[in-house]
Amino acid sequence: MRKKIVAGNWKMNLTLGQAEQLINDILQAGLRLKDGQEVVLATPFPYLLKAKSLLKNTPGFYLGAQNSASEKSGAYTGEVSAEMLQSVGVDYVILGHSERREYFQESNATLARKIDLALANGLKPIFCCGEPLEIRKAETQNEYVAKQLEESLFHLTEEQLKNIVIAYEPIWAIGTGLTASAAQAQDMHAFIRAQIAAKYGREAALRTTILYGGSAKPSNAEELFACPDVDGGLIGGASLVAADFIAIIQKLG
Ligand code: G3P
Repeated sequence: MRKKIVAGNWKMNLTLGQAEQLINDILQAGLRLKDGQEVVLATPFPYLLKAKSLLKNTPGFYLGAQNSASEKSGAYTGEVSAEMLQSVGVDYVILGHSERREYFQESNATLARKIDLALANGLKPIFCCGEPLEIRKAETQNEYVAKQLEESLFHLTEEQLKNIVIAYEPIWAIGTGLTASAAQAQDMHAFIRAQIAAKYGREAALRTTILYGGSAKPSNAEELFACPDVDGGLIGGASLVAADFIAIIQKLG
């Protein structure tokens, strides 16, 4: 039985006080997660230690980061290494988010290096893939995502793949309110799972958690999470509102 995860990607939002309030509001809801269900809070770097202390090993709740460096250590001003994240107790790290690919020119090859360093430091990468609108309109989204998987993930061993979570985030649905339909999400998730099966075998494919991200809200989460190959969500805007994030978690079923 593969993990079901709702991960909140806070992006570059909130002050420390607001972050503390949000975490406390989420924890005070007293959510009872079922076996195999996880919640990940991917806070901005400065809040990681505080978030770790607030989560206090709350069962099922994990700390995430939103990026890590493609180099081990050294003269890379402003960067944060996988080793640093591991040293403050981070569990997951989002890698390959479309905003980083766009604004920071992160290539599939760079992401392969980031993933290797994250795994080497005991972090679980949440690897983001997904197509821009023009690719969706051209109906070449499968080829586009297959290339992202091939160039960033498929050098890994089957054992390494066990620590990878994949997040399909159609770029045209991120922050736009334009959610992919459940059918579109299921089609791509099934395609991603088939790509994994072709490379690593059926068992590895069935074991891999694949999240959907892109305008997931309390109003659409139930339909999305009901899809056989959708194993939860990577949530942006709605993760900044405790009531909405809690409502989405409760749709995990
Ligand atoms: O990483 C999740 C994020 O890209 C989705 O953003 O605001 O559309 O839920 P949003």
